[in-house]
Amino acid sequence: MFPKTRHRRLRQNSPVRELLRETKLEAAQLILPFFVTHGRGVKKPISSMPGQFQLSLDELLKQLAKVEKAGIRAVILFGIPKLKDPVGSEAYAPDGIIQLAIRAIRKSFPDLIVLADLCFCEYTDHGHCGIIKKEGRSNFEVDNDATLEIIRKTAAAQAEAGAHFIAPSGMTDGAVKAIREELDNRSYLKTGILAYSAKYASAFYGPFREAAESAPQFGDRKTYQMDPANIREALKEIRSDIDEGADMVMVKPALSYLDVISKAKEEFHVPVVAYNVSGEYSMVKAAEQLGWMDGERAALEILQSIKRAGADLIITYHALEIAPHLK
Ligand code: PBG
Repeated sequence: MFPKTRHRRLRQNSPVRELLRETKLEAAQLILPFFVTHGRGVKKPISSMPGQFQLSLDELLKQLAKVEKAGIRAVILFGIPKLKDPVGSEAYAPDGIIQLAIRAIRKSFPDLIVLADLCFCEYTDHGHCGIIKKEGRSNFEVDNDATLEIIRKTAAAQAEAGAHFIAPSGMTDGAVKAIREELDNRSYLKTGILAYSAKYASAFYGPFREAAESAPQFGDRKTYQMDPANIREALKEIRSDIDEGADMVMVKPALSYLDVISKAKEEFHVPVVAYNVSGEYSMVKAAEQLGWMDGERAALEILQSIKRAGADLIITYHALEIAPHLK
C-alpha cells in the first residue's frame, strides 16, 4: 500500500519543485512588441495597455538597452505613419517609420533579432488590412490579389532595411508565397518569414487598435480573419503557409487558443509562435490595478500555459516585466 504522501513528495519544497518543473520559460523565448511613431522624445502612454507606449525612435533605442539587458533577444515592430492613405503607402516607403526603425536598431543593437509586422491596417485611412475593392458601409471587400502587390513592395522595403523576419499579419491568401518569391528574387535569402497563419477575428485585439491607431473605419475583419469556433481551418492555414515557404508559424491570440497551439505543435515541424495579444495583457493589468489579482503571477502563469501548450516562442507585452523573474 502506498502512503498518502506519494504525490506530494514531489512538491515538498522549492528546490524539488524546480528540479521537476516540466515547462521552462526563458527570456530568450519571448518577443516584445513595440509601437513606433515619428518625432523625437515621444513616449505616449497607451491608455488601454498600462505600461505600453508609442515611442519615437530615440525613445525606442533607450528601451532596447533594457530589453537586451533583460535577456530578451527579439522584438516585433508596429508602425504609426505620418499620413494614412487608401493603399497604406508608408508601409513600403523607403523612409517609412518601420524601415527607419529597423535601420536604427540594426545599427545600434546588432545582436537583437528584428521582426517586422507586415500589415496595412495601421497605414490605411479605412483601417483594413489591404486594398479595399468596393467601398461602402456594408458592401466592401479587401481585394486579396491587389493586396499581394503591396505586400511584395513592403516585404522588399523591410528586408532592404534589415529585418531578420517578415511577419505578414493580414490573413491575405498567398502572402507567404509572394513574400518568399520577392525576397528570393532580390537575393534576401537569409530573411525569414514568420506567418501569422492562424489569426482569429478576436475581441482581444481591442486595445491594440488604440495602440496602433488601426481600428477599421467600417465593417469588421471577419471576411479575412478566422472564426474563433474553428480548429481544422487553422491547421489548413498553417499547412498552406508552410507549403508556401513560412519558416515559422503563428497562432493568435494565444490564451483562448491553447488547443490550436498544441495541435499545431503536434502536427507540424516548424517553430510555433503564439501571440499573447493586447486584450490578454490588458485584462491582467486591469485586474491588477483594481487589486483583484497578483498581475505578475497571473502573467507568469499565462505565459507558462502557452509554453506548456507547445509554443516555442511567445510574443508578449509582458516580456520586459517578466524576464527578470525567469531563472
Ligand atoms: C494587424 C495586427 C493586429 C494585431 C497584430 N497585428 C490587429 C488586428 O488584426 O486588428 C493585434 C495584436 C494585439 O492585439 O496585440 N493586422
